[in-house]
Amino acid sequence: MSKDIVQIFDTTLRDGEQVPGCKLDREQKLVIAERLDSLGVNIIEAGFPVSSPGDFQSVEAIAKLVKNATVCGLTRAVKNDIEVAAEALKHAKIPRIHTGIGTSDSHIKHKFNSNRDAIIERAVAAVSYAKTFVEDVEFYAEDAGRTDNEFLARVCEAVVKAGATVLNIPDTTGYCLPDEYGAKIKYLRENVKGIDKATLSCHCHNDLGLATANSIAGVINGARQIECTINGIGERAGNTSLEEVVMIMRQHPGLNLDTTINSKLLYDTSLMVSRKMGMMVQPNKAIVGANAFAHSSGIHQDGVIKNRETYEIIDPADVGVTESSIVLTARSGRAALAYRAKIVGYELTKTQLDQVYQEFLKYADVKKEVKDDDIHQIIETSKIDLQS
Ligand code: KIV
Ligand code: ZN
Repeated sequence: MSKDIVQIFDTTLRDGEQVPGCKLDREQKLVIAERLDSLGVNIIEAGFPVSSPGDFQSVEAIAKLVKNATVCGLTRAVKNDIEVAAEALKHAKIPRIHTGIGTSDSHIKHKFNSNRDAIIERAVAAVSYAKTFVEDVEFYAEDAGRTDNEFLARVCEAVVKAGATVLNIPDTTGYCLPDEYGAKIKYLRENVKGIDKATLSCHCHNDLGLATANSIAGVINGARQIECTINGIGERAGNTSLEEVVMIMRQHPGLNLDTTINSKLLYDTSLMVSRKMGMMVQPNKAIVGANAFAHSSGIHQDGVIKNRETYEIIDPADVGVTESSIVLTARSGRAALAYRAKIVGYELTKTQLDQVYQEFLKYADVKKEVKDDDIHQIIETSKIDLQS
């Protein structure tokens, strides 16, 4: 049975770039956009054109540059925002306007000092106006995670009728539990008239560390687009991480879902974004962290040396990492020491290894990590006879 393709909507250059301390210039944005296009991303959210002249120019330049992906610009449900976004996107091969408004009671009361009916009117007016510029209009119901499902379904039904092609259901505050978010998507699929004309999209934030789990719950329940960023960067604790959702779908064939992403470019893309944004990737980050394929305890090292699959569920080559690493520490055993010693040029007999191992432990107890140079030094300064 062929797999359903989940569209990957990358918002590194919009939600991702809002991160404090990170500022990309236009050239850097263009290089990232080009890379996202070769990575196989389906939609690139290039920015929020009305927010500043610089952002407008970046979106315009990205729209001219990108060859394959849809290029998208964010707007509020405001006429001028929509006009400016349409202008910035006018050279895109496939343009999309992403417009929307807050739908939770908290947003309606505190942000808009409004009421539910008036919010629906504004949402419909924004979508209808955006449709006069482009065919592809995505609607976001900001804070949908905390919006009651019945009202959310009313909003969705009204904007689909007005021509929205994609319904973005953001868990803006990262509040939902996976079961709750999945149930929300299922409820919309079952209760919004005309839903077959639109794609449901997951846009999850990571305030409780659940962005990836929530997005996966969303696609299991019928959403067919995930909004995400490289390395999971984004407002506060970040957005859903692109590399995580892509590899979850790839590693679980039973889900019958896949993406068009060339996973072999993931590691390199992560490095590129982290360097350009000056945002370090935490070492234990899934898929692309420096330790994602590093083994440091003796039991694990012994297993991986015998067969990689004992402790690795992903072949590192599939995400563009050359090889798993065996990191030597005071927790490492003889198997790991012999393995690395062989790589640096010493084939040790069992007796030699026993001797070197004692020296290694003394060294490792002082040093946090024993590098290849250190192994060389330990072997050469230990009194073993290397000829025997
Ligand atoms: O998190 C959010 O709700 C957003 C919308 C503007 C799409 O980023
Ligand atoms: Zn967001």
